[in-house]
Amino acid sequence: MLHGETVGLARRNDAEWWREAVIYQVYLRSFCDADGDGIGDLPGLRAGLRYLGELGVDAIWLSPCFPSPQRDHGYDVADYTSIDATYGTLDDFDALVGEAHALEIKVVLDLVPNHCSMEHPLFQQALAEGPAGPTRELFHFAEGRGPGGGRPPSNWRSIFGGSVWERVIEPDGEPGQWYFHLFTAAQPDWNWTNPRVRAMFADVLRFWLDRGVDGFRIDAAGALFKGDLLCDLEDPGVDERAHVPANPLAWGRPEVHDVYRSWRRICDDYAREDGSDRLLVGEISGFVARDVRTFLRADELHEAFLFELLEAPWNRERFRVIIERELRDGLASAGSLAWTLGSHDCVRLATRYGIDANETAEVGVARARAASLLVLALPGPVFLYQGDELGLPEAELPDSALTDPIFEHTGGERRGRDGCRVPLPWSGDAAPFGFSPPTHARPPWLPQPELFAAHTVERQRSDHASTWQLHRRALAMRRSLGARRDGRLRWLDVVPDVLAFRHEETLTCATNFASEPRRAPRPGTPQLTTASAPTGWLAPHSTAWWIEEV
Ligand code: GLC
Repeated sequence: MLHGETVGLARRNDAEWWREAVIYQVYLRSFCDADGDGIGDLPGLRAGLRYLGELGVDAIWLSPCFPSPQRDHGYDVADYTSIDATYGTLDDFDALVGEAHALEIKVVLDLVPNHCSMEHPLFQQALAEGPAGPTRELFHFAEGRGPGGGRPPSNWRSIFGGSVWERVIEPDGEPGQWYFHLFTAAQPDWNWTNPRVRAMFADVLRFWLDRGVDGFRIDAAGALFKGDLLCDLEDPGVDERAHVPANPLAWGRPEVHDVYRSWRRICDDYAREDGSDRLLVGEISGFVARDVRTFLRADELHEAFLFELLEAPWNRERFRVIIERELRDGLASAGSLAWTLGSHDCVRLATRYGIDANETAEVGVARARAASLLVLALPGPVFLYQGDELGLPEAELPDSALTDPIFEHTGGERRGRDGCRVPLPWSGDAAPFGFSPPTHARPPWLPQPELFAAHTVERQRSDHASTWQLHRRALAMRRSLGARRDGRLRWLDVVPDVLAFRHEETLTCATNFASEPRRAPRPGTPQLTTASAPTGWLAPHSTAWWIEEV
């Protein structure tokens, strides 16, 4: 791309609130615990809504809060149209939606259509009916291989470790058929070629839309349909080894587009009623961005997460290439990729940037702040993972505290994702740091490290230079620029190691990737910086914003 060329995303219309939204991912178990059982809940989230309003987010994406035996912390759903008692009740949920809307915060639910929980009544019914029962067709049951069917029907391996097949004990008490699960054995996959499954999920969507939700994040969105499950793979361990979706028979089958088209029609029906889109955002991991874009046609998903920045090292060229490509290709898509730097599935941002280059924790935090301000300056939606607004580090947890099924399934080889899921520190100097009420009955479900004391919301609120204040100011400025951000920007390639761009008449943003100061690409004092520097300079590992006068 030529220096000075303008790139950008489509202009938005009023219904399309999601195009520029900052969506805060609430990992509910770890947000705020109102009843003192050590697990975050909906009343806790209601109490924290004012905090989110003050931070200035446009929407929240709520991790699964449906009844679940919690074998994968809610990504094993036993009932898609109710609330897990650990988190509260449907009344709590309704109150949450009402109160969030009063604060102009939209609510996006996490929908898990690829698989359910073993405890889902239909799976239980399928087990009870035996091999000839019709309910087995809602899942993927098959006979085993070898004498007595004792070997799995094919050689595929799960992304979480182990075989994708689990053998059941039939009603007669004998080992019988096997069922397919892309993730853990506690998460049987639905058979999406069965029309009953489609109809059921259409009803689930309507159930929540009727309760006022503003959209859905679609879990494992590329996985619903599979190729021939009984066919052996040449490289059966590809998912298990890569830890990301890579098996071409399991991910990205074309039939899935038709499902999302039908969901889009449902969402658009609701949007027509009040002129506000109901968002569909897909977790389409393991695909190159080009393939992800096929989900973003005008009649499919509105958004998909862009995971490449999240996986990229702290490197100017990598950031530049990814951003440039997304903005250029974005013009051709109806929907938008969403900038994402963290989630409940990966090592915390502040720690990741520290580990990458064997840098100190301070450098990791400085880079995390700079990266966050950089993506917040870009056109397009941004997902902000709970706790990243506080610059929380990954928690180092003892083996005995780990709860992620990945740890168990890989025999401890992979430690899993607990370290980024530790409950938020709100206040005080010791655990539970205000996460649970003073009279709590149980400690937080994952132990909070002592160093969280330095990161509490309380402390950061009163510290002008804190990571929380930085995010609050950035979100307020981003919002105040509003319609002046027309989705287009121009690169300013003027200083080595510095990635800089300008939105006409709104904002100039510059990030210094070097560990020494660099000249700023424009004169004047920036309105916002992640690290202070003399006028005309950028501090090492920092981002600065200059708001243009009009
Ligand atoms: C998605 C979720 C992850 C979960 C998996 C299985 O990748 O983000 O947390 O374990 O799906 O549902």
